[in-house]
Amino acid sequence: MLKNFLGSITRNATSLAGTALALASIILIVSLFFIQQMGFEGGPYLGILTFLILPMLAIVGLIMIPIGNLMWRRKVRKTPEGENVPALPVFDLNNEHTRKWTLIFVAITVVNVVILSGATYTGIHYMESTEFCGLACHSVMHPEHTAHALGPHSRVSCAGCHIGPGADWFVKSKLDGAWQLVSVNLGLYPKPIPTPLHDLRPARDTCEQCHWPTKFVGDRLKVIKHYRDDEANTELTTALLLKVGGVNLTESHGIHWHVDPEHEIRYRSDETREEIYEVEFTAADGTLKHYADRRAPEEGGMWRTMDCVDCHNRPAHNYQSPGNEVDRAIAQGLIDRSLPFVKRESMRVIQEQYPSHEDARAVMSAELTSFYAENYPDVASSQADAIGAAATALGDIYAANVFPGMEIWWDTYLNHIGHTQSAGCERCHTRRMRTEDREQIDSDCETCHVVLAEEEENPQILSVLSGE
Ligand code: HEC
Ligand code: HEC
Ligand code: HEC
Ligand code: HEC
Ligand code: HEC
Repeated sequence: MLKNFLGSITRNATSLAGTALALASIILIVSLFFIQQMGFEGGPYLGILTFLILPMLAIVGLIMIPIGNLMWRRKVRKTPEGENVPALPVFDLNNEHTRKWTLIFVAITVVNVVILSGATYTGIHYMESTEFCGLACHSVMHPEHTAHALGPHSRVSCAGCHIGPGADWFVKSKLDGAWQLVSVNLGLYPKPIPTPLHDLRPARDTCEQCHWPTKFVGDRLKVIKHYRDDEANTELTTALLLKVGGVNLTESHGIHWHVDPEHEIRYRSDETREEIYEVEFTAADGTLKHYADRRAPEEGGMWRTMDCVDCHNRPAHNYQSPGNEVDRAIAQGLIDRSLPFVKRESMRVIQEQYPSHEDARAVMSAELTSFYAENYPDVASSQADAIGAAATALGDIYAANVFPGMEIWWDTYLNHIGHTQSAGCERCHTRRMRTEDREQIDSDCETCHVVLAEEEENPQILSVLSGE
C-alpha cells in the first residue's frame, strides 16, 4: 500500500513537483517554528512567513498532487491499448552523464537556498520598517506616517506597537493584513480608517516592553501657554501639577494607579469607546466595585480591560487641536505674536475645510495677506516677512493634522488624555458613574492635578517657582 501511495504522488511531473513543494514547505515551517520556540526573535514578519506564506505554499503543493494524478489517469485512458503509457524518464546513476548533472543540480540548489534565505531575511527586515508600513500603501497610511514621524515614537517601528515580538500574534493580525492589502488595492478600505483598533495587541506586550507601569512616581509640573484672540494676542499661562503617580513599593497612587498589575479595571462601552456605560474595578484582595451610568443602555456594547491605550490612544498618531497647534506655533515664534489679531485670524482660516494641502496653503496665505492689507496697511508692508512666515506655519500645521484625501478633519481622531479635546478621563470620572450605594468615581479637580494657575497673565506661582 505504501508503495502504491509513494507511486501515486511521484508518478507524474505535476504530482512530483507538488510533493516536493509541500514537503519543503513543511520542513521549513517545522524548523522555523522550533527556532522561534528556542527564543530566536525573528521579528513580526518571520511569523507571517512561518504561519501564512509557507502554509499556503504547502497547501498549493498538496492540491497539485491529486490534480497531477487525475491528469495522469486521463492520459492512461486515452492511450491506445498495447502502447506504453508515457512515464517519467529513467534516472540511472550508473550513467556518468546523469551523475555529473545530478552533482551540478545539487550544487545549484544549495546556492539557491542560501540566496533565498538571505533575500527572505532582508525582506522580513524591510517589511518591519516604518517606510514599508507607512508608505507601501502610501495614500492610506500617509496620515499615520506623518503623525508618527512628528511624535515622540518616531524611532519606534509601526510593527513595534501594532504587532509586537514573538510568534503567537501574527496569524490574526496578518490575516487582517492580507485582507488590508486586498482592500487597499480594490479601494474598499473605509475613509477615514476607523478608530479604535479593536484587535490592537495588549499594551503588556508592546508599550510595557519599553515603559514599566512601576516606573511612574510622583507629580509633574506642566506649563501650558494659550493666547487670547485680542489685538495684542495676550499670553495666558496654565500651570498644572499632574499627579502622574503609579506604583510605589507596595502602594499605588495617582494617574498610573490604573495600570498597577495588582488590580484590574474593566469597562463596557460603545464601539468607539467614547461612551462608557459601566466600570468594574477588582482590587488586589479580590473585592469588586461596580459603577454604572444610570442613563446607559443595559445591554450591548463591548467589555474591555483597561490598559495604556485607553488613556494614551494617540501615542504615535497625535493629531492636535487647532487651538493648541496655533498656540504652540506662537509660543515657538513661528507665528509672530506682534502681528495684531494673529491668533484670531489664524483660528479663522485654519478651521476651514480645504480640498487639499496645497489649496489650504494658498487660501490661508491669501486670506492673511489681505486681512493685513485691508486693516493694517503699515503692518502689511513693514512685517510682510512675518506674515509670510505665519502663513507657512499655518500650512505646515494643516498638513500635519488634516488629510482631506482620507477624510481626516480636526475632530476625526480625538485624544483621551485629559478632558479638553474629548471627554477623555471624564468618560469614567463623572458624577453619573456610581455604585449601587451611590459612591462615585472621583471627579473633583484635585483628583488628578492641582491647578496652580488657569489661563492667567503672568501667574504669581511661576514667578515664585523660578525665583524671580
Ligand atoms: C507607540 C506605538 C505605536 C506606533 C510606533 C505606531 N502606532 Fe499606529 N496606533 C497606535 C495606537 C495606540 C493606536 C490607536 C489605538 C486605539 O485607539 O485603538 C494606533 C492606531 C493606528 C491606526 C488606526 C487609525 C488611528 O489613528 O486610530 C493606523 C492605520 C495606524 N495606527 C498605523 C500605524 C503606522 C502606519 C505606523 C508606522 C508609521 C504606526 N501606526 C506606528 C500605536 C502605535
Ligand atoms: C520600543 C520602545 C517603545 C515602545 C514599544 C513604546 N514606547 Fe513610548 N516612548 C519610548 C521612548 C524612547 C520615549 C521617549 C521619547 C522622547 O523623550 O522623545 C517614549 C515616550 C512616551 C511617552 C511620553 C510622550 C511625550 O510626549 O513626552 C508616552 C506617553 C509613551 N511613550 C507612551 C507609550 C505607549 C502608550 C506605548 C504603547 C502603545 C508606547 N509608549 C510604546 C519608547 C517606546
Ligand atoms: C488613566 C489614564 C492613563 C493610563 C491608563 C496610563 N497613562 Fe500614562 N499618562 C497619563 C497622563 C494623564 C500622563 C501625563 C500627561 C502629560 O504629561 O501631559 C501620562 C504620562 C505618561 C508618560 C510620560 C511620563 C513622564 O513622567 O514624563 C509615559 C511614558 C506614560 N504615561 C506611559 C504609560 C504607559 C506605558 C502606560 C501603560 C502601562 C500608561 N502610561 C497608562 C495617563 C495614563
Ligand atoms: C475606564 C474608566 C476610567 C478612565 C477612562 C479613567 N479612569 Fe481614573 N479611575 C477609574 C476608577 C474605577 C478609579 C478608582 C475608583 C475607586 O477608587 O473606586 C480611578 C481612579 C483614579 C485616580 C485615583 C487613584 C488613586 O490614587 O487612588 C486618579 C488620579 C485617576 N483615576 C486619574 C485618571 C485620569 C487622569 C484619567 C484620564 C487620563 C482617568 N483617570 C481615566 C476609572 C477610570
Ligand atoms: C480624572 C482626572 C481629572 C479631573 C477630575 C480633572 N482633570 Fe483637568 N486635566 C486632567 C488631565 C490628565 C489634563 C491634561 C494634561 C495634559 O494636557 O496633558 C487636564 C488638563 C486640565 C487643564 C489644562 C487644559 C489646557 O490644555 O489648557 C485645566 C485648566 C484643567 N484640567 C482644569 C480642571 C478643572 C477645573 C477640573 C475640575 C472641574 C478638572 N480639571 C478635573 C485630568 C483631570
